[in-house]
Amino acid sequence: MASTQAFPHAALAGKRILLGVSAGIAAYKSAQIIRLIKQAGGEVRVVLTDGAQAFITPLTLQALSGEAVRTSLLDPQAEAGMGHIELARWADALLIAPATADLIARLVHGLADDLLTTLSLACEAPRLIAPAMNQAMWRHPASQRNAAQLDHDGWQVIGPAAGEQACGDVGPGRMSEPEEIVDALARHLTPAAHTPDAQRPHVVITAGPTREALDPVRYLTNQSSGKMGYALAAAAVEAGCRVTLISGPVTLATPAGVERIDVESARQMHDEALRLAPSAALFIGCAAVADYRAEHPAEHKIKKTQGVDTLTLTLVKNPDIIADVAALDAPTRPFVVGFAAETQDVAHYAGEKLSRKRLDMVVANDVSHAGLGFGSDDNAALLIWRAGADVDQQSAAPQPKTALARLIVGKALSLIDSTAETM
Ligand code: C5P
Repeated sequence: MASTQAFPHAALAGKRILLGVSAGIAAYKSAQIIRLIKQAGGEVRVVLTDGAQAFITPLTLQALSGEAVRTSLLDPQAEAGMGHIELARWADALLIAPATADLIARLVHGLADDLLTTLSLACEAPRLIAPAMNQAMWRHPASQRNAAQLDHDGWQVIGPAAGEQACGDVGPGRMSEPEEIVDALARHLTPAAHTPDAQRPHVVITAGPTREALDPVRYLTNQSSGKMGYALAAAAVEAGCRVTLISGPVTLATPAGVERIDVESARQMHDEALRLAPSAALFIGCAAVADYRAEHPAEHKIKKTQGVDTLTLTLVKNPDIIADVAALDAPTRPFVVGFAAETQDVAHYAGEKLSRKRLDMVVANDVSHAGLGFGSDDNAALLIWRAGADVDQQSAAPQPKTALARLIVGKALSLIDSTAETM
């Protein structure tokens, strides 16, 4: 994957990264992670768990990092140099890649029975973690619970990716690629707060349901909680963007750093979206927009009529907000990402939506799965985007919406940058 221009690895220059490696077959990829960080001008100190040493030797990682590799909490010689608390304080970021199911479970419980778990508790810098395990292990409710808890505890969970696994299985659980992990790290360390607004990519996001009045006290709406759109807004801020969230009625708090514009109806959302989209680099249509509205909302409360058991409402179609944004002409047209909630043949319908609405990327989820999608904290998705005349895709395993949001924003930003590079 191309690294992003908006968030180059330059953010890593001079940064001190503590890299924890645990016992997964993906441990060999930590060598590449060290190289990428070093190439970007960062410093790396490595901590290996006992099990990790069965997969990769301290000597290899010492040669690449240029620093002695720490393996034990109770090592008098190492502690006499830089003690573990000093090491935790030294770090500008702690990155654990790969993180096994066991390590994640121990982190969730706050155990401190080896050097890496102890450092994880002691480190107050940003903490990122890239899980890696067999697909059945990752899908297990315990792993899902633990990943959600890590997210809740402030860890940025990167991936895992889906695909072929070392054990021969196919599915979610393989560690994200080193480039993706280092991209995420660089984004996390981008000093967005010091970048003037005008220099940050502007991201406009629609979220939540719309409310279509029938009379002054009744309306048509849907089940959307707004959680996914709000998670996208938070992820875009975290990635250093300036974010405007056009929100239907929801009960969520506005994420820090987000400008929120409240709307009720689809037409209000449409007006705001078309007003803001021309200044945006990225537009994400995450709202569950009502397809229809009452043709003539009643001016007064609709009364029951004695002896009449039916009421006929005439509905008219609402504007398709995202299709109208996607129809803007260059140079005011942003990169447009839409959502597709499907109950079957997800890839087919998502591809169809990509071309029919002229979108650049579609995030499709199968809403027939219990516990995922509408209202829940978790989601799984298939990302489909244009790659020249073809389409490319990547599936995202079930994960907290906050983690999925980072993946979607990261993917969209890198596609924007790779398009800019080829122009
Ligand atoms: O057509 P459908 O509702 O399945 O498409 C979903 C995508 O289109 C979502 O990105 C949604 O936010 C967007 N949409 C829109 N305006 C509409 C209907 C859907 O922006 N009127």
